[in-house]
Amino acid sequence: MIVTTAQLFKAAYGKFAIGAYNINNLEQTVGLFRGNLESQAPFIIQLSKGARKYSDKRFLEGMIRAADQVFPEAVFAVHLDHGDEETCMDCIASGFYSSVMIDASHEPFEKNIEITGRVVKAAHAKGISVEAELGQLGGVEEDIVGSVKLTEPKQAAEFIRRTGCDSLAVAIGTSHGAFKFKAEPGKKLGLHFEVVQEIQRLVPGYPMVLHGSSSVPRAEVERINAAGGKLKDASGVPEEDLAKAGAMGVCKVNIDTDGRLVWTRVHREFFRDFPEKFDLRDVGKPFMEEYAKMIAGKNAMLGSAGKLGMVKKALGLA
Ligand code: G3H
Ligand code: 13P
Ligand code: ZN
Repeated sequence: MIVTTAQLFKAAYGKFAIGAYNINNLEQTVGLFRGNLESQAPFIIQLSKGARKYSDKRFLEGMIRAADQVFPEAVFAVHLDHGDEETCMDCIASGFYSSVMIDASHEPFEKNIEITGRVVKAAHAKGISVEAELGQLGGVEEDIVGSVKLTEPKQAAEFIRRTGCDSLAVAIGTSHGAFKFKAEPGKKLGLHFEVVQEIQRLVPGYPMVLHGSSSVPRAEVERINAAGGKLKDASGVPEEDLAKAGAMGVCKVNIDTDGRLVWTRVHREFFRDFPEKFDLRDVGKPFMEEYAKMIAGKNAMLGSAGKLGMVKKALGLA
């Protein structure tokens, strides 16, 4: 069942974080639902501007509606990831989305407030909630290339008060994509959880969001490269770090890249091992299984695994 992001955040706040997973096609959609049901977790499906354009947004929305019927036990929200103002307004008007993200974090503070405020006004008029971003992650966000600028907690509190946004994506040192940090085994990564803790102190009960949270498992990169890939040596966010985020008021953790790595590993290994095969369903099946496994593993780390029953009760669905 499709629920609002606000309902999920209310049930999760301070206890666990909810996985927000990007999808682009059918196999990811099926793997996503299976993985979340296997681990009995509520979840968030997110669609990026790129995903909506890849084929046509109506295919993605249609697949999600179909999945809702095929997997009636699932509880999830549908979210626009990294929207600009125009895309946010389109999603708000469609009535299909539980929440939208307006990402004006590359704009100066006042301009970010102005744009976010307009989206909040339109969204709230339709009962849709809004995620905004303050500070800048490193790496590539859609078509914006940026360098890291940590979120400043006092500014965050002012931003939340002046825009009325319902959740805030904070920059604490993570970045998008597979090349977040140079892989240096044994080296402790300096994620700035003190930023999250300070925002939690200044705005108690307010949900925060972590972008760029893939862990880029070393074993996955090695398997891809052993099967002909040429990925640079890199590493991501250690899963133990994600495990502690929920208690600090992080309600949503965004993961896309790790799913892309599963796709690449399964397909490279399959065609290396079965060069005579050409039926796309033969490789689609193991991909859906492996993707579901990855999702269930993330949910276990985030603490959302096993929480489906509790969330259904809290939402009056059980
Ligand atoms: O943060 C961006 C997400 O990973 C989506 O990526 O814009 O290539 O679909 P995309
Ligand atoms: P990753 O690239 O680390 O998976 O981050 C995804 C993300 O933040 C989507 O908004
Ligand atoms: Zn992101």
